Amino acid sequence: MRILATRRYPGPALDELEDLEVRPLAALTRPRPDVEALVVANEPVQLDLLPSLQIVANFGVGYDRIGVEACLERAIVVTNTPGVLDAATADLAFALLLATRRGLVDGDRLVRSGGWTGAWSDGELAEEVTGSTLGIVGLGRIGSAVARRAQGFELRVLYTQRRPVETELAEYRELDELLAEADLVTLHVPLTPETDGMIDARRLALLRDGACLVNTARGEIVDEDTLVAELVSGRLRAGLDVFRDEPNVPRVLVDLPNVVLTPHLGSATRQAREAMTRLVVDNLLAVARGDPPLTPVRT
Ligand code: 8YV
Repeated sequence: MRILATRRYPGPALDELEDLEVRPLAALTRPRPDVEALVVANEPVQLDLLPSLQIVANFGVGYDRIGVEACLERAIVVTNTPGVLDAATADLAFALLLATRRGLVDGDRLVRSGGWTGAWSDGELAEEVTGSTLGIVGLGRIGSAVARRAQGFELRVLYTQRRPVETELAEYRELDELLAEADLVTLHVPLTPETDGMIDARRLALLRDGACLVNTARGEIVDEDTLVAELVSGRLRAGLDVFRDEPNVPRVLVDLPNVVLTPHLGSATRQAREAMTRLVVDNLLAVARGDPPLTPVRT
């Protein structure tokens, strides 16, 4: 099976593929009837240039940019990489919660700039993480991993999602109630037509003064302009790993003391990324053998 991968994905698993070509999608300018399999990182697939495509293996759990419906209509299998990046993403969400709540980046900036003038810190005092209320939007695999980490910090944990579940990890709330009650809110839903803009201006206004919003999911879930205005005013705090128009970050955020910014690092650990490549390759090998894919996307 002729496989096109849009980059050299990390880890040794890619070496198991015999007929592999590494080339960015932007370099695909003419039809390629020889290509039967494509590996992408949530990138739009030009189906018209790939008439023999059998499988799109996505390196990532989120597949909102691929054009899955069009692939499935043409009986092209789409796979993703769920599970293997849960710990990495939950760790990052927690790191952002802690860093945002305790003003870590602003403190770091003060030390580096030579502005720290004495052992006594004159800065504004932070609110504690321990004992506060965490609201998890989406208690799936990653959201549950965040809830388990929250137990060690003695957090009261609330969650919301379309269908409430039986769980010891967190108490169910409607989304609006959760936003109004939590000190810390973390987003763990996929980007779908339903979640696009879900945290809109009205819902951002429900957040308590001083609340921290953490987003390691997708920028489009939040009304970014309103969030930026709330951050500029100093009413909210935020830890943001994802943005509406990556890699463009609203410039006004870079000087704010109440914001921590990271460049879409959710799955960026060696363990997660190598396991993602492994799962991509296992899906490709299964389909090449005529077996069902391991982790197919169905919408
Ligand atoms: C990226 C992610 O896909 O899995 C996801 O949904 O957002 C990340 O893992 C990865 O960084 C490659 O683009």
